[in-house]
Amino acid sequence: MPLRWNPDLTPEEVTAETLFRQRRLFMKGALATTVSTLLASSANHLLAASHAALPRIQKGVVTLDENQTPFKDVSTYTNFYELGSGKSTPAANAERLPLDTWQISVEGAFQQTGPFTLQQLLQGHPLQERIYRFRCVEGWSMVIPWIGFPLRDLLSRLQPTQAARYIVFETLYDPAHLPGQTEKTLPWPYREGLRLDEAMHPLTILAVGMYDRHLPPQNGAPLRLVVPWKYGFKSIKSIVRIRASYEQPQTTWNQMAPNEYGFYANVNPEVSHPRWPQNKERRIGELLRRPTLPFNGYAEQVAHLYKDMDLQKFF
Ligand code: MTE
Repeated sequence: MPLRWNPDLTPEEVTAETLFRQRRLFMKGALATTVSTLLASSANHLLAASHAALPRIQKGVVTLDENQTPFKDVSTYTNFYELGSGKSTPAANAERLPLDTWQISVEGAFQQTGPFTLQQLLQGHPLQERIYRFRCVEGWSMVIPWIGFPLRDLLSRLQPTQAARYIVFETLYDPAHLPGQTEKTLPWPYREGLRLDEAMHPLTILAVGMYDRHLPPQNGAPLRLVVPWKYGFKSIKSIVRIRASYEQPQTTWNQMAPNEYGFYANVNPEVSHPRWPQNKERRIGELLRRPTLPFNGYAEQVAHLYKDMDLQKFF
């Protein structure tokens, strides 16, 4: 199940390509384009509200020799507690996510801070397709063709200062629209965080789409994080705040149950969750369970980030 890295060698991607140079490379030319034309005349809701096709996607940047999970399964079997705690309730409540005037507040230890419209935030970031494994701590997994761009490209634009050691993300807090937030299932707003080097890793992306189309609300429209070597709960949906901090942030599931959900949450077949053993997983659509891979199959790319850490302790 090789990871195939196919950088287009645009300036932004040369660094990433260099990183992967010694590894399995799969080179293929494609034109990098920006989303600026797409966004030029569009209100935020046009970008995000419909599950319309996205134009000008650079295909095959990261591919995988594994069957993709059908779109129907990915968009109806979801975890998005703001839209309900069942697997299918987020899809049923999808229209409640207020996408019309989406703004992202950039705060903390960045040179560039302030409110950004979605359009301003995405401006100049070519969209790429990246086919990643996605593994939930509940023991199921999928293969999803995300459409997005490396988080590191945005962070380079925002310029973290010396005080930036972590990047923190928050989801919209709007109980008037989001039924789940009227319940005490989780501390709201949903918050996640990454160490700066994890956030800057070339596999970490911000996704705006999947299967060539805009993200459906239940999958985290208009903008979500995807960190393929970590359990799915790290991949926070519907982001409205990005903050750079010196201190390790309090994150939602870790706050809820620190003995069950670590801050790092790297996929690790050797560390069981109290309720779900992690050595095997069920790929949605398959009958037999398959072995879970360390770092969800991305060990070659990311294990060095944790070389001095006890991965039993820092789960
Ligand atoms: N982000 C927010 N804001 N709210 C959530 O409830 N659930 C997380 C994560 N991001 C969640 C979230 C969990 S537990 C998982 S497994 C993934 O989203 C699920 O992503 P998917 O539904 O697109 O498969």
